[in-house]
Amino acid sequence: MQTYVKGSKITGTGHYAPERILTNADLEKMVDTSDEWIVSRTGIRERRIAAPEQACSDLAHNAARAALEDAGVKAEELEAIVVGTVTGDMQFPSTGCIVQSMLGATNAAAFDLNAACSGFVYSVSTVHAMIASGQMKKALVIGVDLLSKIVDWEDRTTCVLFGDAAGAVVLEACDRGEGILGTYTRSDGSLAELLYVKAGGSRRPVSAETVAEREHFLRMKGDGVFKYAVRAMEDAANRVLDSAGLTLNDVDLLIPHQANIRIIDAVAKRLELPKERVVVNIDRYGNTSSGTIPLALDEAIRAGRVNKGDVVLMVTFGGGLTWGSILLRHT
Ligand SMILES: CC(C)(COP(=O)(O)OP(=O)(O)OC[C@H]1O[C@@H](n2cnc3c(N)ncnc32)[C@H](O)[C@@H]1OP(=O)(O)O)[C@@H](O)C(=O)NCCC(=O)NCCS
Repeated sequence: MQTYVKGSKITGTGHYAPERILTNADLEKMVDTSDEWIVSRTGIRERRIAAPEQACSDLAHNAARAALEDAGVKAEELEAIVVGTVTGDMQFPSTGCIVQSMLGATNAAAFDLNAACSGFVYSVSTVHAMIASGQMKKALVIGVDLLSKIVDWEDRTTCVLFGDAAGAVVLEACDRGEGILGTYTRSDGSLAELLYVKAGGSRRPVSAETVAEREHFLRMKGDGVFKYAVRAMEDAANRVLDSAGLTLNDVDLLIPHQANIRIIDAVAKRLELPKERVVVNIDRYGNTSSGTIPLALDEAIRAGRVNKGDVVLMVTFGGGLTWGSILLRHT
């Protein structure tokens, strides 16, 4: 049971996806693949790809502006900006600091949080705790990734899966028991080799050799991730519900990480949630890593699929491995 002096609630959401659409037909011209294989194995039909000059902070900034406007909050009111990402503008400073400057959020702390595709859920969990402990009242959380910049466009087993996007939420203090009803986060680093970028860190700095070996690109053992993902997401859903004293019957909408339609369907089936209570947009965006959940949440709210008082369950998993969940009563 989490014991806090305050609660935190989401008062605004926003997202940004780059204009350029890359379809499965486009990919057929780039690697040995087919629209039929991609749709049947993943559910993806198209994805957005950032322009060469666009970086993480550009997508994050656009999503942040939309969320601030939606919340009616000025950038100077923010006390923290946390960016969940693994594709920041550069090693350091953090993309959080770059966005802080772009927004003119002159009273905010800023940092990035690396939990791969779970970056948004981990960041909300962290910021919820910061607000609920009484440390601050208003903060911005952004989930953003541009995996197009780190996938190997010659590797058909990964390049068809990912896209670029950002989503953002404004979190504000409220009474305990309102807004975010619980969060859950877990990891298992012994499974790190399922999804990783080998070179570019202190273990294996970038060199002519690492570039020649293509070690600066993302590598993944898809079947291993798949098996773990379903079990981890089911567990994360049940744990956060238990911690809040709710059951799946109380859940109005499930927003799962959008990595593969077969994973989403398997999780929904295990949780016995019908299709109409599950948000799916993987067909239009692919896997945007940390961007999937805030993007889907913003689209669902703007489409009128989330009403005041509705309980929304968000579940994720990603490289690390990491996984987690957020339970929200929409206000
Ligand atoms: C990657 C994934 C779609 C592959 O689906 P799968 O059903 O496991 O497919 P397999 O890996 O068994 O591959 C089957 C065949 O399709 C081939 N294949 C892989 N990618 C292909 C593509 N883009 N086009 C055509 N064929 C492809 C494989 O080479 C393999 O061929 P082979 O049998 O001759 O060796 C699936 O494992 C997955 O989604 N895993 C989870 C990944 C994930 O979520 N990652 C992000 C975590 S946040």
